[in-house]
Amino acid sequence: MPTCRPSYPIETARLSLRPFRADDQDDLLAIFSREDVTRYLYWPQLGPDEVREVLGRWTTQVAIEHEGEAISLAVCRRDSGALIGEAMLKLLSETDSQGEIGFMFHPDHHGQGFATEATRELLKLGFDDLGLHRIIGRLEARNRPSARVLERLGMRLEAHFRENEWVKGEWNDEQVYALLRSEWDAAGGQGA
Ligand SMILES: CC(C)(COP(=O)(O)OP(=O)(O)OC[C@H]1O[C@@H](n2cnc3c(N)ncnc32)[C@H](O)[C@@H]1OP(=O)(O)O)[C@@H](O)C(=O)NCCC(=O)NCCS
Repeated sequence: MPTCRPSYPIETARLSLRPFRADDQDDLLAIFSREDVTRYLYWPQLGPDEVREVLGRWTTQVAIEHEGEAISLAVCRRDSGALIGEAMLKLLSETDSQGEIGFMFHPDHHGQGFATEATRELLKLGFDDLGLHRIIGRLEARNRPSARVLERLGMRLEAHFRENEWVKGEWNDEQVYALLRSEWDAAGGQGA
């Protein structure tokens, strides 16, 4: 199984993706503590102690060598250096060569294509470095902004599960988007 050990930072036109550091605590808390960020996530708004725990985990998630491991990166604007979000790639199955992407961004930086730009880099790591066959993105069905990011990257809606999860006191629908390596290659290794 190929491994994924990127050299950091990963730079795009407007963004710099790097491992999380302990001093990202305040910036991450500013994202996690917002109801409009956590609305469709599995967890509620987080406080300082919970964010410290997440950050402790994320600072170590910089490479993928085994099934179940993930890379979680801090996404920073190159113009200001501000930490604006997180983008993640996980190796779901080594046998089936399957991965998953995820992301969340501070609302002050929504609507400018940053999530799409950052997540494209995680797809590149998955397909080009890890050689994955298929990468998925999962979301709560009401989370249209998240679906639009996946669609802009060329991912297809493959499944809509009706009320398959009990989250925050209500039944949620889950959608699964996916992209095959052949589709990624056909799009020139950039998504749609
Ligand atoms: C999901 C989430 C990251 C999407 O954020 P977003 O700002 O809509 O996504 P992008 O950064 O890719 O920006 C895309 C928007 O910017 C616009 N845009 C402006 N300039 C752009 C540019 N240069 N390039 C691309 N898009 C641009 C696009 O038209 C698009 O707007 P639209 O969706 O109204 O058509 C954000 O809603 C979020 O963080 N939510 C909370 C956490 C969450 O739910 N995460 C997903 C869990 S499954």
